[in-house]
Amino acid sequence: MCGIVGYIGFREAWPIVIKGLKRLEYRGYDSAGVAIINNNGFNVYKKAGKVSTLEDFASDKDRSGSIAIGHTRWATHGAPSDVNSHPHSSNDNRLHIIHNGIIENYSTLKEELISRGHEFKSATDTEVLIHLVEEIQKIEQIDLMEAVRLALNSVIGAYAIVIIDRENPGQLIAARKGSPLVIGVGSGEYFIASDATPIVEYTKNVIYLKDNEIALIKPNELLIRRLDNVIQTPLIQELELKLEAIEKGGFDHFMLKEIYEQPRSVKDCMRGRINLKDGKIELGGIKEYADKLKNIERIIIVACGTSWHAGLTGEYLIEEYARIPVEVEYASEFRYRNPIINEKDVIIAISQSGETADTMAAIEIAKEKGATIFGICNVVGASIPRITHAGVYTHAGPEIGVASTKAFTAQVTVLTLMALYIAQQKGTLPVSKLTSLLTELNSIPDKIQTVLATDYLIKNIAAKVKDAKNCLFLGRGSGFPVALEGALKLKEISYIHAEGYPAAEMKHGPIALIDEKMPVVFIATKNSSYEKVISNIQEVKARKGIVIAIVTQGDTEVKKMADYCIEIPDADEVFLPLLATIPLQLLAYHIAVMRGCNVDQPRNLAKSVTVE
Ligand code: AGP
Ligand code: GLU
Repeated sequence: MCGIVGYIGFREAWPIVIKGLKRLEYRGYDSAGVAIINNNGFNVYKKAGKVSTLEDFASDKDRSGSIAIGHTRWATHGAPSDVNSHPHSSNDNRLHIIHNGIIENYSTLKEELISRGHEFKSATDTEVLIHLVEEIQKIEQIDLMEAVRLALNSVIGAYAIVIIDRENPGQLIAARKGSPLVIGVGSGEYFIASDATPIVEYTKNVIYLKDNEIALIKPNELLIRRLDNVIQTPLIQELELKLEAIEKGGFDHFMLKEIYEQPRSVKDCMRGRINLKDGKIELGGIKEYADKLKNIERIIIVACGTSWHAGLTGEYLIEEYARIPVEVEYASEFRYRNPIINEKDVIIAISQSGETADTMAAIEIAKEKGATIFGICNVVGASIPRITHAGVYTHAGPEIGVASTKAFTAQVTVLTLMALYIAQQKGTLPVSKLTSLLTELNSIPDKIQTVLATDYLIKNIAAKVKDAKNCLFLGRGSGFPVALEGALKLKEISYIHAEGYPAAEMKHGPIALIDEKMPVVFIATKNSSYEKVISNIQEVKARKGIVIAIVTQGDTEVKKMADYCIEIPDADEVFLPLLATIPLQLLAYHIAVMRGCNVDQPRNLAKSVTVE
């Protein structure tokens, strides 16, 4: 996602837009740009880097004008660079656009526009959209709002856009579908932004543009139409939120906001990659290796921390569906072990930040030994995507909280898609099975939403165990990586010592720790190891341990023996990590808050470990 700000009215637009972009930088910050109109003409300033870099760059340039659009980018198509920064212009440089979202059919549209003589400067999907608007307006000889409406009717994907016309400076065109856009209503002026943060200090009156709506905005006029051309009556609402709250979208912490973003981030991760009708998966980032994937003999996953836990789920998924042996290695161990690697191996390097030193070192070693390296990363253009041969972005949007949450479920989603994609190439799964798995995967965002609705119950449980000194997390099969991730979440933000174990391993040592003060969290959902986990729960109860169990909705068996139960919707065992992890994220979050810990920036930790 990214930050969008626009202004049209009587004030100097530059300070409003720049301040607004800084308030939105939590949404994305790899590059920034502004287009501004004044009586002498039209200026565009755009740079890779933070908003402050743009501010310094333009400090000695003409920034006057009372109409402007600004953008702080979270790249999805085209690495962060000056040329890929927004605004992007039409072929004739008359129209300029800023965009939040993904135009999924941009490559088809781009080919058609190139055949009509259009020349493109950037690698972005956004630039294609403004050229499409220009082409339609030229052919149909219609006004800009109508040209935008027709263009958006042929676009597939998500967008929040604002367009400025240097030859018709008294107006802005805004539209949205799938990405947010708020219009602030002033007297003789309008503000546009991705959320209310840049607007609230100027006006409390806002209009939340709805999906498939397009707005023509002039200093004293606002016209809203639907994409089917029906005029809409704007609904003006009064903002209640305080400024400082809005930066976190009304949440107390970025971590909680990012936990709640998971229905959307998992959906965005799948966007444009699954075709339910034909039971097909499209992973553009690795499709040039499709043939190689048919014959690979081994996959080695390298990662650190939460990303390593995601890698473990990948082992279960890839071995189950693609029938290829998978090894999951801590990057820090792999890099110092002189591993046996050859050119038949595929290495998958997983990293939210794309900057983790140990993971980068592991990649370099594997590369020297001739392996093919795929990356799974959340930051477009980060170091790891630049040193791998190919990869798949998670598109989870910026993760600000140091404790990784939405990046984990996005990584597991990508690994699921990769496992099914390899199975598709190798023919190890019938199309009917592929289709049913993809259909179920497609339902996961709604099921995550259902789990989030139990937050109040989880908060009550947190209050009961917040003073524990130690905690065990136990799971079997795909529940084991979930146990590890739940333990890491708890220890890194609440500072309670916690360990994750395969449930069967408990009797080989950890059971000695069980007493009436020890909470033990079980992943006890209905799956192939359910009966065995029940036995493990009884072993803990026999030693007076406190049992917290994640169970499948409607479970009655575990409920009879556990002290606390958290229900999650039923799903195929392979999708368990996407659902069972959510309550553990919330449990850790609430315990940490109750213990007065700094949830977003826990002591001793950094969001990206760029040192060894
Ligand atoms: C997880 O909550 C931690 N922030 C940490 O373990 C993190 O997963 C690890 O440092 C790897 O970071 P990366 O995914 O950016 O490579
Ligand atoms: N897809 C567009 C790009 O990569 C917009 C990304 C964003 O939302 O910041 O430039």
